[in-house]
Amino acid sequence: MNQPPRVVSLNQASEADSALLSNLLELYVHDMSEVFPHVQLGPDGRFGYSKLALYWSEPDRRFAFLIRCDDRIAGFVLATRGSPVVPDPNVLDVAEFFVLRQYRRGGTGSQAAFLLWNRLRGTWIVRVLENNRGALKFWRDAIASFTGGRFDERPLTTGPNEWRVLSFDTGSG
Ligand SMILES: CC(C)(COP(=O)(O)OP(=O)(O)OC[C@H]1O[C@@H](n2cnc3c(N)ncnc32)[C@H](O)[C@@H]1OP(=O)(O)O)[C@@H](O)C(=O)NCCC(=O)NCCS
Repeated sequence: MNQPPRVVSLNQASEADSALLSNLLELYVHDMSEVFPHVQLGPDGRFGYSKLALYWSEPDRRFAFLIRCDDRIAGFVLATRGSPVVPDPNVLDVAEFFVLRQYRRGGTGSQAAFLLWNRLRGTWIVRVLENNRGALKFWRDAIASFTGGRFDERPLTTGPNEWRVLSFDTGSG
């Protein structure tokens, strides 16, 4: 029997959500450690994410969102104004993006990305590690669908990492 469609929402997070986001970041970084071999677990059994506090102290440049699926936590997005890969300080950059495993491959990530790009309009940058194959396909598909295929993609090497950098406009307003 077909599952009923899920209702995906994207809600801006605040400092009150710090503990929740820290816990989700642990799950995310653990997933990412598969493609970022230099990521190491700390002696306390946590990866940690020291930049989270900046999302509350720099609210004009950093944006944290919780993804919910039928009102249950399904993931999160961290986005920044300014990107490490372009000089323009006003571009928008997907810093981290995570969907819990139980909600994957049902359209949750795509819907959350569309909600993000509709909410914050401008030039967006998405950086994906070349060997994060599933995520690369996910981003290419989501961006192509959102923009009608109007996006740029270029390779970038930083140290040992091979990236794909995707960029596109979501308009103003
Ligand atoms: C990447 C991620 C956000 C995708 O979320 P999702 O909710 O599963 O995405 P969707 O269901 O909207 O996927 C839409 C399409 O993207 C593609 N896709 C998504 N995940 C894929 C995978 N693992 N392998 C291949 N294609 C994939 C498929 O074409 C999919 O459509 P289909 O399921 O009908 O085939 C999720 O897998 C995740 O959080 N991964 C770990 C963290 C991560 O890598 N984040 C991105 C960092 S750049």
